[in-house]
Amino acid sequence: MSAPSVRIAPSLLSVDFAMLTDQLAMMEAGGADWLHVDVMDGCFVPNLTFGAKVIETCRRATRLPLDVHLMVVEPEKYFDAFAKAGAAVLTIHAEAAPHLHRQVAAIKELGCRAGVALNPATSLESVREVAAELDLLLVMSVNPGFGGQAFIPSSVDKIRRARALLDAAGSLALLEVDGGISRDTITECWRAGADTFVAGNAIFAASDPTAEVGQLRARCAVQA
Ligand code: DX5
Ligand code: ZN
Repeated sequence: MSAPSVRIAPSLLSVDFAMLTDQLAMMEAGGADWLHVDVMDGCFVPNLTFGAKVIETCRRATRLPLDVHLMVVEPEKYFDAFAKAGAAVLTIHAEAAPHLHRQVAAIKELGCRAGVALNPATSLESVREVAAELDLLLVMSVNPGFGGQAFIPSSVDKIRRARALLDAAGSLALLEVDGGISRDTITECWRAGADTFVAGNAIFAASDPTAEVGQLRARCAVQA
């Protein structure tokens, strides 16, 4: 079976934890592709969230691959524990990872897909030299730390340039966008070349979160 051309990754950050199992089941029923898990350390970003224990809990609660976004300093401290806890993808921030080449290789050695994320103010040049090694490039379309923020419009052009950079490098990396993705913003990101979309508030604040997964996917005109 070929991989879907569009991936929708609901964000755990917006889940009601009192109903974790039900909400994850709703995402599976809605056809979500991944579960996005935002790890924040209160240092790289001004917020605290989850660690290995919650990743492991999610691993048992859903069949969805876990797309783990590390918004932490010294991310390599957590690779082993998060891989063991069941992460499918480990994405680190270029701003927190001065040895990207080595760190990407270390993630792959643990059997995970390796991603690199860029803050809105970070140039794509930060990843040019490792583009061919990446499994995923994450363009942040908000400043990381919180769900429910407004999409930064200049992210669309950055996605377009990221697509060109990956293509020029012959990279097969997925191109993910995270922050403020909704019915109103997903189409332009998809047209610009993104294929993987994180959505928290847009899905879990919707009147029908299960259906919203399909609504977002439909706005990517997969058949086009
Ligand atoms: C923000 C996180 C996002 C967040 C997105 O720092 O990386 O994954 O959950 O939330 P929304 O879709 O609500 O902007
Ligand atoms: Zn995220």
